[in-house]
Amino acid sequence: MKRELEVAKGLAVEAGSTLMKYYLQAVRVDWKAPGDPVTAADREASDLIVSHLLREFPQHAVLSEEAPDDPKRLASSYVWMVDPMDGTREFIEHRSEFAVQIGLVAGGIPVLGVVYQPTTKKLYYAAEGFGAFVQTDGTSIPLHVSKERAASRMTIAVSRSHPSVRVEAIRQRLRINKVIRTGSVGLKVAAVCEGQAHLYIHTGNRTNLWDTCGPEAILREAGGRMTDVSNNPLQYDGREIRNPNGLIASNGVIHDRAVKVTQSIIETFR
Ligand code: IPD
Ligand code: CA
Ligand code: CA
Repeated sequence: MKRELEVAKGLAVEAGSTLMKYYLQAVRVDWKAPGDPVTAADREASDLIVSHLLREFPQHAVLSEEAPDDPKRLASSYVWMVDPMDGTREFIEHRSEFAVQIGLVAGGIPVLGVVYQPTTKKLYYAAEGFGAFVQTDGTSIPLHVSKERAASRMTIAVSRSHPSVRVEAIRQRLRINKVIRTGSVGLKVAAVCEGQAHLYIHTGNRTNLWDTCGPEAILREAGGRMTDVSNNPLQYDGREIRNPNGLIASNGVIHDRAVKVTQSIIETFR
């Protein structure tokens, strides 16, 4: 997995430079669907990552948000999942909270992940059995989730652009007092990996496999957990590209409690 990790880290940084090339320009925004923007930066970063991965690993399959889904991935033992830019909305509004995300699924499980925030040059990465790290200025520090047990001393990471009344109700029921607001699924999970946050919940079906694959691999190695809102593992080896039953990422300690409360709040809002 060492070569795969080195390639993914290099590509994330290179794709990050591509995004930065567009960041301060007035970039044209196209809409794939209402509320789902895309720019030339997303597309160029995707092309760069996908072409390099296929050249380096011709036996592997690649699923990218900005490329057609290749059904060959369903029969492949190794599938890369790429979000060339997670947090396009923040990028468009010149907020720094967006990231390049690359994950690798083996046997249905995310075994390698890279999340790179080009505006801060922070590179989060992990491979199964190797540990999770964050690298800044060439120095890598191991990542460990917080072991905090008291919800009142925990922090929940929430979306900046997509506030959710359900997540707010869950926060109140769990009696979590502190909130970190940021764009990007990967950066919210990274906050949990760094111990700055303890929980992140998305109750809907608006995240996709490329949003969670890389981040989940890093979170697992940092000692945390990611499941859907029913406490089942996310499914990376099916035809479905969404995470249809939401997601909960946590430090592990609060996970089962968060699942229970989430179920009850979803029931209330039904
Ligand atoms: C999420 C991300 C992600 C998208 C999800 C959003 P957030 O928004 O933009 O790419 O697939 O649907 O919820 O959490 O960054 O505001
Ligand atoms: Ca995304
Ligand atoms: Ca994206």
